[in-house]
Formats: sequence, C-alpha cells, structure tokens
Amino acid sequence: MSKTLIKNIGSILAAFSGDVRKVSGKKMKNLPGVDDAFVLIEGAKIRYTGQMKNAPETAEQVIDAKRGFVLPAFCDSHTHLVYAGSREQEFRDRVMGLSYEEIARRGGGILNSVKRLHKISEQQLYEESLPRVHEIINQGTGAVEIKSGYGLNTADELKMLRVIRRLKESTPLTVRATFLGAHAFPAGYKNDPDSYVDLIISEMIPVVAGEGLADFIDVFCDRGFFTPDQTARILEAGMKHGLQPKIHANELDFSGGVQVGVQHHALSVDHLEYVGDEEISVLKNSNTIPVALPGASFFLGLPYAPARKMMDSGLPLAIASDFNPGSSPSGNMKLMMSLACTHMRMLPEEALIASTLNGAYAMGISDELGSIVPGKKANLIITKPIPSLAYIPYAYGSDIIYKVMIEGREV
Ligand code: NIG
Ligand code: FE
Repeated sequence: MSKTLIKNIGSILAAFSGDVRKVSGKKMKNLPGVDDAFVLIEGAKIRYTGQMKNAPETAEQVIDAKRGFVLPAFCDSHTHLVYAGSREQEFRDRVMGLSYEEIARRGGGILNSVKRLHKISEQQLYEESLPRVHEIINQGTGAVEIKSGYGLNTADELKMLRVIRRLKESTPLTVRATFLGAHAFPAGYKNDPDSYVDLIISEMIPVVAGEGLADFIDVFCDRGFFTPDQTARILEAGMKHGLQPKIHANELDFSGGVQVGVQHHALSVDHLEYVGDEEISVLKNSNTIPVALPGASFFLGLPYAPARKMMDSGLPLAIASDFNPGSSPSGNMKLMMSLACTHMRMLPEEALIASTLNGAYAMGISDELGSIVPGKKANLIITKPIPSLAYIPYAYGSDIIYKVMIEGREV
C-alpha cells in the first residue's frame, strides 16, 4: 500500500486515543494534540503520527504542511443536501417579516421543496445535488449524513434515497442515509394526519428498509408537525426494520421530542433550540447525543440551543450544518464552528470536538472517523499556516484550508 508522509505540521489537533468514541461535559475543553509533528498515511488510513524529529525519512508521496495544522475532516451529522431548486423567495418573505412557521402554514417551506422535487427525475436530482457534495468536501467535510424528506410519498422518498446512495457510491465522502418520510404532512393529509403516519408505517418503511436505502429513521417532532405519539409509532416501526432513530426535536417549542427520542434509544436528538432542565436530565441518563444546528438558528433568527448549559451539565454535544434550502442553505462547518462560539458560547476546542468526533458519534461512525489516530480513516484537513486553533472560528470568513484529504487522497 502506498504511503504518504505529511511533514512539518505546526500542530495535530484532536489526537484522541482510538477508544474515545465521544467527549462529554468538561472534557470537551481539552483537545489533545501533538506539536511539531508528522502524520504517516498508508492506503486510506492513518498509520502513525509523532514528532517531526522521529519522522520517517521519506515515503512515496510527501506533503509539506509548512507549519499548518492538521485536524480531522468535519463530520456533519445532519443535512438535507439532496433537494430541488432553492427558496430565496421565502428568504425575502422572512426579511419582510413573515415567520418560518407562517410560510409553512401557507404551503411554502418544506412543501415548496416537495413540489419542486416531485417535478424532476432522479438523474436531475443527482446532478443538482452533486455540486453541493463537492462544495462541502472543499470546505473540509469528510463524512456526512443526508436525509430524505422532500418526497412525502413512497416514489419520491425512494427517488431521494437512491440519489443519496449514488452520492455515496460516486464520491469519496463517508455517507450515512436517513429516511425522513415524517418531515411534514403532505397537502392532501392536512385533515387526516394519522393516515399519513399509517402510510409511512405500512408502505414506506418496509420498502426503504427492504432495499437497504437507509441507516436511520427520523421524525420532525415539533409544534405543528408530528406529535410525540405519532413519533413513537413511526420510530417503533422503523426499529422493527432495523433503522435506528435519530430525530428532529424542539426546534419550535418544548415538544416532548427529546423524551420520545431518548425512550426509543435515538442515536441523536437534533435542533434543541428549546431545551430545559427536564430535557437535560433525560439526556444525561442516556447514550443519545444532543446535536445543535447553529446555522438554522442564525438563518431563521431562532434562539440558539443552550450549548453552554448542556455541556456544563456534563452532556456531550455535536454541531451540524442542517444544510437545506429553507432553514440553513449552507454546509460550511467552519462557519458553524464560528456561530457555535459567537452565539452558543462554545470554546474553539469544544466547537472542534463537536464538529468532528462527536459528529462522527452522531452518525455511528466514531470508531473509524473524527480524530487523528492510527487506524482511523485518513480524512483530514491541512490548514494554511495559522497561529492557533482559535484562529479557525475567529477568521469566520476566511478560507484557512490548504488541502483536504479523504481516505488518504488529496481532493
Ligand atoms: O432541520 N426542521 C425541519 N426540517 C429542516 C428544514 C427543512 C426546510 O425548511 O426545508 C430543518 O431545519
Ligand atoms: Fe434538519
């Protein structure tokens, strides 16, 4: 297998030992690193790391990091990046004063994307989505979760999930797929929402699972969307078919979503703009990781998840981009780190752990991604020369990336 040596690294960040699968509470303040370092890559994996004075003389390929930092590529555990068209008209409407929920009630929002997606073929949807994948790779993302949820009927949900599968097969990213048939109620079911829940359970879940198209099952459990009871029914049906829960909760209100997610052993509960003491204590007694989506709070002008309080209570925390056409049309994880620091009072160390190792945990892949450690996939970012870790979220509009490597190859 061919070897690549990255030499003259200013600092390696997030050099956690291989058995650390997530980091919680106060421990998120400590980011293990190695100064004056090298990384040796063999094939797709990190072989070993160390101080420059112990570096191997040479390798088939040598990259001079010129004192830049090496950090794990971002692990973005929550996106909706397969979608048709864009929704800047709704953005204008919000600028003029309409709320996200008012726009949704008028048939805009998610249902607007549903209409657009219905009109195009699988091939067109793939062609629209592929550049978004390349965009996030160039911004340093090496692993991503992508949801369905703009189909809301069996054929269109399958269309989305097949596009996600093609993106997984045709790009170097590590991709995890989530079935989100319960993203909204389709227009025809407004007066009979439970029939839509029945359709998800009796028709959609069996085909999605039967074709092996999803790893996870998601429900938007919130005010005006799915109730905790409906959520429980859908999660239970998904679990019977081998899909692990990973849900949207408490974006718009204290919805009971955190409780229903934890009861069903969700891998993660995401959004969490509305989280109080009860939600925190429920999460503390679980293996469910909370995921904050600062891009959605920023873009919709919502409150931010109380990250400081969650971490100070001992919880782990991940951050993700929520890349989607309505509430966060960006998959830029470095920007998410900046928002996490400026609006959620996360330290740069915490924001980096939240967007790498803890993000990998929220996708069930932290055994192979999310830190710079021998044996893990060589998905990493080499930065331009920068003075410190804090410079990354501080320089919020600057491109600090020198190279991105995925599975040991430069992209
Ligand atoms: O995570 N909250 C629900 N779903 C998405 C938004 C989807 C959309 O507006 O298209 C979210 O923010
Ligand atoms: Fe989302």
